[in-house]
Amino acid sequence: MAAAAHAEKQAIPFSEAELAFAARVAWRNEARCIGRLYWRSLLVRDRREVTTSSAMYGALCEHLELATRDGNIRPVMTLFAPAEPGRTGPLIRNRQLAGYAGYRERGSVLGDPLNCAFTEEALALGWEPPKNRSAFDLLPWILSGRDERPVLYPAPAHLIKEVSLSHPTLPWFRELGLKWYAVPVVSDMMLRVAGTEFPAAPFSGWYMGTEIGSRNLADEGRYNLLPLVAGKMGLRRDERASLWKERALVELNAAVLHSFSEAGCRIVDHHTASAEFGRFCALEEAAGRPVSARWDWIVPPLAGSATPVFHQQMCDLRLRPEFQRPTGTAD
Ligand code: ARG
Repeated sequence: MAAAAHAEKQAIPFSEAELAFAARVAWRNEARCIGRLYWRSLLVRDRREVTTSSAMYGALCEHLELATRDGNIRPVMTLFAPAEPGRTGPLIRNRQLAGYAGYRERGSVLGDPLNCAFTEEALALGWEPPKNRSAFDLLPWILSGRDERPVLYPAPAHLIKEVSLSHPTLPWFRELGLKWYAVPVVSDMMLRVAGTEFPAAPFSGWYMGTEIGSRNLADEGRYNLLPLVAGKMGLRRDERASLWKERALVELNAAVLHSFSEAGCRIVDHHTASAEFGRFCALEEAAGRPVSARWDWIVPPLAGSATPVFHQQMCDLRLRPEFQRPTGTAD
């Protein structure tokens, strides 16, 4: 009985081609992603032989190089050894390979509040932050190999491309000293294929501008920059109906798109992404496949009803293979 249950959990020996196709289909199935038109182009790196944190470190550095290409960003996924019954890992503790520290300081936060808990975890493992802490300090990596304890690695800063933000017409914008990293490498999701789980399966695409301009820099629980930007724009903030938040959002998003394209970094605006999602849906339907999608994730957080996806009906079909977050859900 126990032996049979054990046998059921053994990893199926996929060929490299089967695994690559399954990974691409998991992207195609991801109900929250607006960028799925490109699912066939995903570069899948089969690194199933990797079980130690030091080998993971090297493979993650390669991932960054292959994905970034100095701004000519391409979608990449790296698969490490699958989970085995009764053993732990391999696992990447970071949400993403690039991320900024959040330091709790007397009632406020310096940096990205999303990463406060992770920052404290890194400090407890002995991470030494820069002497002069800033709002954009790159976090180290915390990796655990199979049956290993978490090990701290410095982030390879030379491989993490960042873009300083400026605005096409507002000269003061540059003085705000804002920036963001070019390549989001999601590293806390597990890939599940036919019962085999890959707890370390980092994947990356390119950004849609609103992820940075409407959420990361603007959410009250993140960098919360709308009051600052509106103030610089000379807008009065004492009346909600003056739409100062919308005006600030527009300029923040304009700065993100402008700066990335000036820096030669691939990025997509939300109007183009919505149109591409429409093409994806049409291709899928023509192939006889229903599209799984979540309206609350697909509709962009700017100009929602001015994009076609707002007017589309969507249904989360929970298709497999799939990506899963080991614990709860975040963004
Ligand atoms: N929303 C996340 C962020 O702002 C990134 C998620 C993946 N996004 C992507 N375009 N592949 O960092």
